[in-house]
Amino acid sequence: MTAESDAPAIVVLGSINMDLVTTTARRPVPGETVLGTSFATVPGGKGANQAIAARRAGAAVRFLGAVGADLFAAELRRTLTDSAVSVDGLRTVAGPSGIATIVLDSDGENSIIVVGGANAGMTELTEDDLAAIAAADILVCQLEIPIDTVAAAAHHARAHATTVLLNPSPVRRLPADLWADVDVAVVNSGEAEQLRDDLEQVPHVVVTRGAAGADYRGPGDTRLSCPSPQVDVVDTTGAGDAFTGALAAAWHRGPEWALTWACAAGALATTTLGASSSLPTREEITAALVAE
Ligand code: RIB
Repeated sequence: MTAESDAPAIVVLGSINMDLVTTTARRPVPGETVLGTSFATVPGGKGANQAIAARRAGAAVRFLGAVGADLFAAELRRTLTDSAVSVDGLRTVAGPSGIATIVLDSDGENSIIVVGGANAGMTELTEDDLAAIAAADILVCQLEIPIDTVAAAAHHARAHATTVLLNPSPVRRLPADLWADVDVAVVNSGEAEQLRDDLEQVPHVVVTRGAAGADYRGPGDTRLSCPSPQVDVVDTTGAGDAFTGALAAAWHRGPEWALTWACAAGALATTTLGASSSLPTREEITAALVAE
């Protein structure tokens, strides 16, 4: 797989998890036991998913993250290399890899509990990491690794004119100086509500709305909206990551094109089970847009 000739160089700093996916007709309420219908282990993690999504959407991608010293680590690493994501910045740290326990119901809706494991060990950026961030077109981050590392990377990116795209998920309050370094924020509608004041200072804000598509607010109060292609939903896990990775890969073509491209990628990612396994290629995204 080769990157497009005008493909951006993207560094994704973030988490990598093994997803433990249980399907069930209906998710249990507190105190209830229900019977499940299947179980699968699928590589995931918001960082790794977004890295693979951006790579499949046509960008050249380097992933910075950490796996543990356990049986999951080799498969997690291989998932990135199989998609031609550079793992030069992937370290192995003591202890277990990150895992996510995911319960998926027959409507394709999920509940997720993440135990960070090795992701918590992403506390330092090496000279190589910093050089890669400085040379990249875009730095993409989320919040499943220590915030101080995200803040340091964003600050370094800003100092070297690398665009900083933050997907602040799982949502939490962030230091003001981190927000000051963010060029593009990608949030879902719940996160947009919780972070409303912070997002006011971000130049480009993209709000994903699931099957309803996505909205964009840019400089000069430019507003755009994009509908989502209608698809048969199997699993929404990783749809936001598919959207974010594709948006980053297409950002150099302008917000309108990037939003359209990302909406198609997000929708396609819901049509099969699993996070990293459902991320669409450039050709699949193109075909979906042509069919619209
Ligand atoms: O966004 C989906 C991802 O969130 C899953 O792959 C899971 O690992 C959690 O990080």
